[in-house]
Amino acid sequence: MADLMDDLTSLAKRRGIAFQSSEIYGGLRSAWDYGPLGTELRRNIRNAWWRDIVQLRDDVVGLEASVIMSPKVWEASGHVGGFSDPLVECRSCHQRFREDHLNDGACPNCGNHTFTEPRHFNLMFQTHMGPVEDDASVAYLRPETAQGMFVDFGLVQTVSRKKLPFGIAQIGKSFRNEITPSNFIFRTREFEQMEMEYFVHPGTDEEWFDTWVQLRLDWFTGLGVRPEKLRLRPHEPDELAHYAKAATDIEYEFPFGWAELEGIANRTDFDLRRHSESSGEDLRYFDQETEERFLPYVVEPAVGVDRALLVFLLDAYRVEEAPTAKGGTEKRTYLRLHKDLAPTKVAVLPLSRNEQLTPTAREVFELVQPRWMCDFDDAGSIGRRYRRQDEVGTPFCVTVDFDTLDDRAVTVRERDSMTQQRVPIAKLVDHLQGAL
Ligand code: GAP
Repeated sequence: MADLMDDLTSLAKRRGIAFQSSEIYGGLRSAWDYGPLGTELRRNIRNAWWRDIVQLRDDVVGLEASVIMSPKVWEASGHVGGFSDPLVECRSCHQRFREDHLNDGACPNCGNHTFTEPRHFNLMFQTHMGPVEDDASVAYLRPETAQGMFVDFGLVQTVSRKKLPFGIAQIGKSFRNEITPSNFIFRTREFEQMEMEYFVHPGTDEEWFDTWVQLRLDWFTGLGVRPEKLRLRPHEPDELAHYAKAATDIEYEFPFGWAELEGIANRTDFDLRRHSESSGEDLRYFDQETEERFLPYVVEPAVGVDRALLVFLLDAYRVEEAPTAKGGTEKRTYLRLHKDLAPTKVAVLPLSRNEQLTPTAREVFELVQPRWMCDFDDAGSIGRRYRRQDEVGTPFCVTVDFDTLDDRAVTVRERDSMTQQRVPIAKLVDHLQGAL
């Protein structure tokens, strides 16, 4: 099972989906770059989330807050005082680890069992604003996007004229100085979050919490993740974040075990209360029907783009025996990605680089290119080109052959079943539209 992680990491590098940051300098263990296909995949994940959370609902609006916020935000939110992990140092090799990540209490580096007492290590990246580096210029890179929604709550509510219950959604980079970044893009120091703060009447929060847990689970299965690979894990009281009354993780069965994919938290009125008290700004909501003023409760689904991307890739990764043209079989690696997520939707493949085929193949390409992300590939054998597209999850390959010149039809090959269908060029867009 662990090999799957290696196979996927190698596929991701080979095909330019994701690879180590600064690789020409030996790479940075905790940061990753996304190449052309990874970039498309990330855009598709963000779009699928935004469509589900904002576009298809009339009770959620968007926000793009800045990464650097007033340091007072992080003092009020409790992150300066409480956003830390227990750090221990191995007494033998002096490497440092997160205490709760040690397997059976053994050092992952040398196997020794004695460690220093744990100390709290704050995960926020610190920097300085302006030319003077002193205590007064300290600033932080945000460790979650959520605080933007809390400090801008009053403003966004006023301009959007939303009534409870309603949500504010944001997609953006977050930074955490993780003690042990690990497992490819699973835990990194720079990552992107998709978070939504859903503001509700106190007393309705538990019901909304259950609703959002279910909606978020449905989002993953709707995008093709196998349900048996997902499970819910409610947090024990002693592991709850400092702001939460209840939390449930949506876990995925990664090759390295079950682990958090997304977290849904009931943050109560903790954040709005802290910011009201700290800023002196009244962040209470005014209910026009009851003429009451109160702080709403908040239910928050929060997921990482990178972690979701890892799950979509792992879940889609398939290796199967497939028939060859010569009557034998060969190993076929393909990504069974949902069509909405696939980086390239259609590949146009002229049978060969023949000068008679090229103009028609370009004509077909220009027909589909304005509608979907497409690829034009005329290099190498057709079988090899099918395999290249399979490996990155392209749902459809359109082949232009010599018959096309006579019958003005192309062959459309579907990725998962590998079935092929002859479709007139004049009907190609309609045909693909029905399937994409
Ligand atoms: N605002 C709540 C919050 O940030 P979290 O459980 O710490 O909650 C939410 O983070 C999600 O963000 C996680 O479920 C995970 O998908 C992603 N995430 C958190 N830390 C990450 C890291 N170091 N690397 C990659 N993704 C991370």
